[in-house]
Amino acid sequence: DVKPDVKWLGTPINELKRMPECGRPLPPLKDVPGQHTVMIRTDLLQNGEVPVPYPTKFIDTWDDVHVKMPFSSSNLFPVEDKETEGLQNKSRWHLIKETLSKKITTALELKNAILKYSASQAKKWDFTALQIYCTKPIPLLKAGMNHSITMSQEQVACLLANAFFCTFPRRNSRKTEYYNYPDINFVRLFEGSSSKKIEKLKTLMCYFRSVTEQKPTGLVTFTRKRLDKPINWKSSQTPLTKLHITCQGTIEGGGYGMLQVDFANRFVGGGVTSSGLVQEEIRFLINPELIVSRLFTEALDHNECLIITGTQQYSKYKGYAQTYQWGGSHQDTTPRDGWQRRCTEIVAIDALQFRNFLEQFHPERVNRELNKAYCGFARPEEQSQNLSAVATGNWGCGVFGGDPHLKAMLQMLAAAEAGRDIVYFTFGDSQLMTDVHKMHSFLTQRNISVGDIYGLLGQYYSSVCKSCLSQRPDVSLYSFIYQQLKQKPSLSGVSFLMDYG
Ligand code: AR6
Repeated sequence: DVKPDVKWLGTPINELKRMPECGRPLPPLKDVPGQHTVMIRTDLLQNGEVPVPYPTKFIDTWDDVHVKMPFSSSNLFPVEDKETEGLQNKSRWHLIKETLSKKITTALELKNAILKYSASQAKKWDFTALQIYCTKPIPLLKAGMNHSITMSQEQVACLLANAFFCTFPRRNSRKTEYYNYPDINFVRLFEGSSSKKIEKLKTLMCYFRSVTEQKPTGLVTFTRKRLDKPINWKSSQTPLTKLHITCQGTIEGGGYGMLQVDFANRFVGGGVTSSGLVQEEIRFLINPELIVSRLFTEALDHNECLIITGTQQYSKYKGYAQTYQWGGSHQDTTPRDGWQRRCTEIVAIDALQFRNFLEQFHPERVNRELNKAYCGFARPEEQSQNLSAVATGNWGCGVFGGDPHLKAMLQMLAAAEAGRDIVYFTFGDSQLMTDVHKMHSFLTQRNISVGDIYGLLGQYYSSVCKSCLSQRPDVSLYSFIYQQLKQKPSLSGVSFLMDYG
């Protein structure tokens, strides 16, 4: 039986002997051939003095009873001789000296140096600890990577100050090595005379004023995430989750504490450092720490998203697009998490841009949008009960020309599959609010699963959109779904008959 206040048992530790108190004086140190090899001058050994090595000159021995030394003249490696086409032995020590006498400033240079003079099996060596030990430069979040970067708000501010002054090298032309990255230097923010630019500058100046007057103390995490295997939507039995839909408020306002969707460009931040000024750009202006993601985030692929946790809102705003105005400074009182990050999680997901309305109903486009949203919403490492709702709205339905009725449906499916509820801001559209709510109630009352709805989307494409000759379908998606489901007793009834009939 364990007593919590008992910290030790047995003999008290100070009754046990320790060196040097318990030892006897040592005899004088001396070299005894065949017994004790002493490698220093014993006659010169003195307290506080560096021992003198013995022998003082290297005795080159290359045999099976002594350590083979790197600088032995027998330490050779074979090189192909171009003239004789045979192998010629070269001194490895020569190569080691040559390699290590060059300046080494990074972990990678050290790794390459070590590999240069090591035999071929060294290619498998792991240098992770060395890389972690050395001070880390900011990695690029390249396409296909699953990787997070956490930095302080102060570090972000320093990087953004550099962006303002346009100091990032190789970043002033997309023709260079960074062609697949967003612009980071603010040069295009300064051009032209539109009032939009003035309001953007006011918003950013408010940020720089705030962080220079009082250093922010938190951290921000940027996570690039890839969906490895696409969902089999057709076979999903998942039921829809809860929906709150409103025509009032905004994602950033009403959606505090939720996973907030950024209606992104594949180059995250879109036109924030140039002329863009819609949902994504506005969010990046009022929460400028988001802008630093442009420094290292390569363009997003179809199955990728960027999650940014911990950014702070520094400004308010009024209006939208052409009518956007800086609305003064904002005191962000969002609580911080255990990593000192503001509890503001934003996910950048880029919708497809449609020029032809019907195209978005094509199963391939539907799959792409579903998987993109799912990649943004799903957190496989978390239990559903620990996941906040998704705060979203007309994703892809402004500049990108998508249909909000379809996009609302696709986001409901993706959120359901990710095990999250959804709060939908229609941005003033009360008709859309009514339509989506009615559809959601209809589907949930009949226990229609994600897979069932996905099947109906496919049917809608093949029986309405494919044969459509005009720009818009004759029957809307929602009317079609009502028609199909009202004809049958209910889909769950059908599967009941299939299971037991
Ligand atoms: N909260 C809720 N809904 C909003 C908000 C808000 N704060 N702001 C706008 N909406 P859009 P897209 C609604 O056009 O079509 C950028 O340049 C409003 O109904 O920004 O995905 C990106 O960088 C609006 O019409 O998103 C991309 O290049 C709708 O959301 C491109 O635009 C869509 O907003 C993405 O275009």
